Amino acid sequence: MEYNTVILGAGAAGLMCAAQAGPRTLLIDHAPAPGEKIRISGGGRCNFTNLHAGPENYLSQNPHFCKSALARYTQWDFIALVERHGIAWHEKTLGQLFCDGKATQIVAMLRAEMEQAGAELWLSTALVDLSKTDSGFSLTFERDGRRVPVSCRNLVLATGGKSIPKMGATGLAYDIARQFDLALCETRPGLVPFTFAEGRFAPLAGVALPVRLSNARASFDEALLFTHRGLSGPAVLQLSSYWREGEEIAVNLIPDMALFETLRAQRQEAGRRALSTDLARHLPARLVEHLAPDLGLSGNLADQSDTALKALCARLSDWRLTPSGSEGYRTAEVTLGGIDTDALSSKTMEAKTVPGLFAIGEAVDVTGWLGGYNFQWAWASGHAAGTAI
Ligand code: FDA
Repeated sequence: MEYNTVILGAGAAGLMCAAQAGPRTLLIDHAPAPGEKIRISGGGRCNFTNLHAGPENYLSQNPHFCKSALARYTQWDFIALVERHGIAWHEKTLGQLFCDGKATQIVAMLRAEMEQAGAELWLSTALVDLSKTDSGFSLTFERDGRRVPVSCRNLVLATGGKSIPKMGATGLAYDIARQFDLALCETRPGLVPFTFAEGRFAPLAGVALPVRLSNARASFDEALLFTHRGLSGPAVLQLSSYWREGEEIAVNLIPDMALFETLRAQRQEAGRRALSTDLARHLPARLVEHLAPDLGLSGNLADQSDTALKALCARLSDWRLTPSGSEGYRTAEVTLGGIDTDALSSKTMEAKTVPGLFAIGEAVDVTGWLGGYNFQWAWASGHAAGTAI
């Protein structure tokens, strides 16, 4: 069978690409349903883009690469598409846009767009062989227990990253990139919780508070959540993408508080109140209890000198921790690294050395922050390749 374009992977980027690439396009996926990550994203409501999406919200060895695609298919373009399909949406926080209803509305919308463009979708289909021909590519698929030969002029790699193998993530795009000598950037799990040895924070599981979480590369003001296995919450997921094994992180537990001034004032007004009791008015009580031995919290407010209060605030604003690891690809929302952007045209996503071969979405070394940025990259890069084909 002959097609103009074959797209491997019917996820976010592949569906968007198929909707642009039009007739004589075949989209395949080994899963029985398309867009499974869209379906489960955003707690089932899909955080489909971010009002503030821009190149500065993405990690890549070449931070300029994503600019062209993001500028040519913006969050406003996707919002317009969502509205054309009558999908109601709302901003939750920090520019994050979610469906009012279900994430499956986004999958249905992309499927409808793709079908309207005349593209074909084969599910439960596996690639068993791929080679280059003079005019394009020759592929063999396994479908319904039969081998199906397919030839095409353009081949698009849209099989995503390694995150959540249980959901069908594979390294197929990387394997094909290697087959065609495209360079790869080392991959690591991103947007992933930190783990700590011996259930260090298990007694605090469920405690959440706003923090500033930093390392030498980045800083995020968002919520932190203690879990049985370590630390999670938006601040942790964001910083995890900038973290390397063995590195220390700094937690500012009082990012928006003038705590020193407050404690001094309290010392005047309620000097007989225990220091730990007063602190628990500003921080979760279980956290104060946990930190008390380490911080040497004892005595009343009246017993504390200015120097002691200053030292306490300094400790609370710079709590140093070294995670023992992360939860890894098992729960990571994204994969950092992937196909080296140097190998691709930033305008079309086509490989510079292999005409007709394209790579889009998470398989490429472009990774967004938490908050709808990764889908925006999938839409933008899928659109760039689909319109270039
Ligand atoms: P995607 O993973 O979407 O699609 C790849 C497709 O290729 C899949 O359908 C897969 O089955 C298929 N495939 C893989 N290997 C194959 C093979 N060997 N043969 C055939 N097919 C194969 N982002 C965001 O912006 N907002 C959000 O709310 C969320 N929420 C979220 C929740 C969870 C739990 C996860 C894991 C991730 C998110 N993300 C997110 C990230 C977002 O889902 C992700 O960045 C995009 O789906 C990437 O789109 P792609 O199309 O590149 O890959």
